[in-house]
Amino acid sequence: MKELIFATNNKHKLQEVRALLGDTIKVLSLDEVGLAGDIPETADTLDGNAIQKAMWVYDRTGADCFADDTGLEVDALGGAPGVYSARYAGEHCTFADNVAKLLNALEGETNRKADFRTVICLLQNGEPHLFEGRVDGHILTQPYGEGGFGYDPVFMPDRFAVSFAEMPLDVKNMISHRGRAVAKLAEYLKSTTNGNEK
Ligand code: IMP
Repeated sequence: MKELIFATNNKHKLQEVRALLGDTIKVLSLDEVGLAGDIPETADTLDGNAIQKAMWVYDRTGADCFADDTGLEVDALGGAPGVYSARYAGEHCTFADNVAKLLNALEGETNRKADFRTVICLLQNGEPHLFEGRVDGHILTQPYGEGGFGYDPVFMPDRFAVSFAEMPLDVKNMISHRGRAVAKLAEYLKSTTNGNEK
């Protein structure tokens, strides 16, 4: 089975991505290939960070790998926190700190439209290939649900009546930003494995 290193140790992301690529690709975490240290994420775009993270792994392993970068883009905040979603409430903040800061920033705001956008950078023989996924929805006024991670408890996707944190993982995966980006990655990998690279 083909192996790909995923530039993360986030167990939620690994679980989501393995559920989507499981049968065709063996996805290895940074820990599993013995890579330690903080990967720099200093670009000011999702594309830039995804490329930077994948290159960090490639430079150390020479192996095919991919990285993702996700941003929560809130209309009423001019697209913030966006590329800064992980550190929205400060350098070493928790998911709960970020959620609290977001709810505070939107206090009394009626336009609660938001989207999640994920960019995946696959490096195949060192060549970058980018895949993007997006889901639209809105920010709830308080957290709901125990599942997922990050901003999941306060994000309700369009056409659903529950937050991401209240959904079974397979439902989130089917409609989420990362699920959609991974589906494009999977499609591409399938086409190149069959020898008919696009
Ligand atoms: P990352 O750079 O891809 O790790 O994502 C940046 C931040 O966005 C994370 O620290 C989370 O707070 C948030 N995030 C990423 N993916 C998700 C998701 O699927 N649900 C909720 N929050 C997410």
